[in-house]
Parts: sequence; C-alpha cells; structure tokens
Amino acid sequence: MGDLVTLDSGITLAYDEVGTGNPVVLLHGFPHNRSLWAPQTSALIEHGRCIAPDLRGFGESGREGPYSMDQYARDVAGLLEKLGVEKAVVGGLSMGGYVAFALWRLRPDLVRALVLADTRPGADSPETRRKRLETMALAREGGAGAVANAQITGMVGATTRAQNPALVDGLHQMLASAPVEGIIGALQAMMDRPDSTDLLPTIDVPTLIIVGEEDALTPVKESRAMHAAIPGSRLEVIPGAGHCSNLEKPAAFNHVLGEFLSALNYA
Ligand code: MLT
Repeated sequence: MGDLVTLDSGITLAYDEVGTGNPVVLLHGFPHNRSLWAPQTSALIEHGRCIAPDLRGFGESGREGPYSMDQYARDVAGLLEKLGVEKAVVGGLSMGGYVAFALWRLRPDLVRALVLADTRPGADSPETRRKRLETMALAREGGAGAVANAQITGMVGATTRAQNPALVDGLHQMLASAPVEGIIGALQAMMDRPDSTDLLPTIDVPTLIIVGEEDALTPVKESRAMHAAIPGSRLEVIPGAGHCSNLEKPAAFNHVLGEFLSALNYA
C-alpha cells in the first residue's frame, strides 16, 4: 500500500496497490483521494490487482497543472504504463467516471471493462458552471474546510446522514484535507470537460453501472439513461446509499463489483 511513481511527464502520483491478477484501476471523485476506495481495495483482493491512485492535486500526488479531464486520463495511462499494465478494468466514481470517459476517448486500448459509479456522461450546465466558480472562490477564501462544509450533505444519502454520522465525519475529513490547488484545478477541469454522451454507444467493453438509490448529485435517472445508451451494460441500484455508494454500502457495492470482476476473469 502507498507507493509513489514519477511519470515521464514529471508528475508524481501516489497510489495503493493490493492483490494480484487482472488489473482494476479505481478513480476517486471530487474532492476525494484514493482512500475513498479503501473498502474495495481491501475486499476485492481475490478478484484482481486493485490500483487506486490519487489524481493529480489530491492526496499525496503532485499538485502542479495543467488540469483537465484529458490530463487526468493521460496521468492514469502513464501510471498503467509505469506499472506494466497493458489493459485494466477502469472504475470511476463521479469525477472519476468523467476521467474514465476521457480515458475511453483517448486510450480505449487500455480499457478491459468499465465500472461507472454515481457518475454522468453530460457536460456541466451553465448553472453548474456558475456554481463551480462560486466553489473556486470559496476554496480561495475559506480553504478546503469551507468546500467540505458546502459539499458534505450532497455526498451521501439521507439514510447515511441519519444512521452513520461517523462515516459522514470521516468523509468530511477526507474532503477537508484536499489541497486547494487540487480543488481549483479539478473544478476547472470539470467545467471544461466535453459532453461524453456521444461516446456511450461506442463503448464495446463490458460495463457495470452502479448508483446509490438516494444519490442527489448524479441521480438514478442519469444512470438509467447511461444503461440504455451503453450496449450490453449492467445497472445496479444500491438501496440506502447516496453519492458515495461504495463507502455507504460497501458490502452491496463489493458484491456487485466482485460478481462483475469474477465473470470477467472467467470470460
Ligand atoms: C464528485 O463527487 O466527483 C462530484 O460530485 C462531481 C461533480 O461535482 O460533478
């Protein structure tokens, strides 16, 4: 657990790596870090080699720009190359899903299968762009703690808020520890990202879509639309979970992910 690698582009990325066998790379959302995936990397050990990086600007990775979805995807490609991985199952939650779409656009040869968790293919609306600018200002003025305060409610579902305050506190700490450069860079990258809806019918690798039933940020209807547009995809809705479905209901999330990986391993 907890390695550092410097890519040919000069950026240093931190990552966790657990298990052996078919590689599975897991990409965190905004403003998370690789510890988001701790409930998966520990549980999926028998299903493959789980690699969970801190995206540029988050966790222990380097913070220098440039920031864009394509740049995050190139970083992931560079990491896989350094680790000698020719093809991986690529999973992303929320912003991590946006990176997975960018990787599919740029380097589909690297993608063995996709796991799209609590994410959406569409670009930001004008209203969302306006909110991103407000969040940038909040980050500059109040730091990551202020951003964490603003984001935490939407990050989890009503069930988790009511029943699991310790999880909410832990997630708040993760958000509040994000570097301000990384927050601002990611907001810019999300604002600038292209619409990936047209990519969906081109996805010809096995695809698992997972969404928390109570996800308010990337609601179930967005996942249903992705499921309809991606040929042969599988959709799993996790009851009692919100936007961070992998953290909120790890057993249910790991069960569907484990089944999907196991079917791939025997394919
Ligand atoms: C995330 O969890 O990555 C964010 O909610 C994504 C976004 O703000 O679009």
